[in-house]
Amino acid sequence: AAKRAFPNVADTDYADKNKREKAQEAFRIVRGQLGKTYLPLVNGKYENTSESFDSVNPSNPKEIVGKIGLLSVEQAEQALKAAKAAFPQWRKKSAKERADILRKAGDLMEQRRAELCAWIVLEVGKPLPEADGEVSEAIDFCRYNANEIERLDKGYNYDLAGETNRYIYQPLGIALVISPWNFPFAIATGMTVAALVAGNCTLLKPAEVSSVIAAKLAEILVDAGMPPGVFQFVPGRGSIVGEYMVKHPDVNMIAFTGSQEVGCRIYANAAILQPGQKHLKRVIAEMGGKNAIIIDESADLDQAVAGVVHSAFGYSGQKCSACSRVIAVDSVYDTFVNRLVEVTRSLNVGNAEDPSTKVGPVVDSKARDRIREYIAKGKEEAKLALEMPSSEGGYFIGPVIFSEVSPTATIAQEEIFGPVLACIRAKDFPEALQIANGTNFALTGGLYSRTPSHIEQATAEFEVGNLYINRGITGAIVSRQPFGGFKLSGVGSKAGGPDYLLQFLEPRVVTENI
Ligand code: SER
Repeated sequence: AAKRAFPNVADTDYADKNKREKAQEAFRIVRGQLGKTYLPLVNGKYENTSESFDSVNPSNPKEIVGKIGLLSVEQAEQALKAAKAAFPQWRKKSAKERADILRKAGDLMEQRRAELCAWIVLEVGKPLPEADGEVSEAIDFCRYNANEIERLDKGYNYDLAGETNRYIYQPLGIALVISPWNFPFAIATGMTVAALVAGNCTLLKPAEVSSVIAAKLAEILVDAGMPPGVFQFVPGRGSIVGEYMVKHPDVNMIAFTGSQEVGCRIYANAAILQPGQKHLKRVIAEMGGKNAIIIDESADLDQAVAGVVHSAFGYSGQKCSACSRVIAVDSVYDTFVNRLVEVTRSLNVGNAEDPSTKVGPVVDSKARDRIREYIAKGKEEAKLALEMPSSEGGYFIGPVIFSEVSPTATIAQEEIFGPVLACIRAKDFPEALQIANGTNFALTGGLYSRTPSHIEQATAEFEVGNLYINRGITGAIVSRQPFGGFKLSGVGSKAGGPDYLLQFLEPRVVTENI
């Protein structure tokens, strides 16, 4: 029988005037709430903290979006105790009871969609349509993982005459989720609800700069019915409290999305057996990419230019899925790069709240300075094909395109995480594929081609977790394009896919002679 597709929730249609007005109204409401304080949620109570952090609007850093109370190590210890105490009850709940809380959370997100979008735009500088896509993805993660636990809860029977063999799953215990700022709502939701619905008591530590959005997620999970101690919101300094929790003997698993540097540190720290620890920790880490799109001689160049521009400069190149290398074969290289430069020149750079903005700010001054260093490096290594002006006031960086980049140049090898694209010339398709595979990463990749043998070869040999043919390489949709990579792009299975929840579960087999 044909499998029914997962019903993904639809994005907002901003062509509809009512929807645009609703979005404007949400911005007005959210603006009225800027600057409030958000506290960690420990065992069902919002705890005062001695330290706090100002989360600002990257389009206008003078504007404080919210003040975040930062958890101390002592409070982290309390949270872990509470998680341990809450676990026996939580694991006893039926899969359906836990799944229904996720479904309720998804519904609440749908009701609060316009408001959540406004928070995302203001806290991390993501233009509205992409913020809206993120809320859709979060809703999908809630509903998808709810269905998934009900599927897995049935387990498997391997019965014989006189002997039953039941394959069942149980939760691991305590899960620590460390979420990134670039998909502050969708990815934080995806990892957190997966851990929870599998029956684990879960602590969410968001990236500091996107803590307000994470606090909104915490509100929603509590309103949906997550009991005290089962879900806890633990904003804090990654290097202190984050590391403390990673190393804690009571933590069973860590789900992380973020930089390679931090991912590797977590992996190493989690591997050390601590005194009193009676298990090895499981780590899933979704890290970076140096994603390439190949353009061959048979490509539809209009389509290719549009796909590359969107993939490279959407959210200012700050997606792990973003295109940061384009590898075009010699016979179309010049035409392609010229057209790419012209189309990119038409993108508006500016405040993420402005509906005409295509390229908003980067997330903070540290990111801006790091990207600027890469641009300076690129000027030494390659030919500057385009450098758009950066507007004033926020952490803006206009799109930059380098041409004639060597495949081994720094800007062709290291993840920049900004609106900087390296164009590389290849002799032919086999060489293009070889260049595409010549980094430490394997996350997303793309090919524009109308040559079946090239499509076949790329399918077999392009080393990426998600390969996109004749389309852009960002914006994976839950269940349609389960997302994640390998090599130094990460460890663990794909978010929004059929193997994801297994990582939060322990399988057991019970055999009975009858
Ligand atoms: N899932 C996102 C995308 O596909 C990246 O994390 O763009």
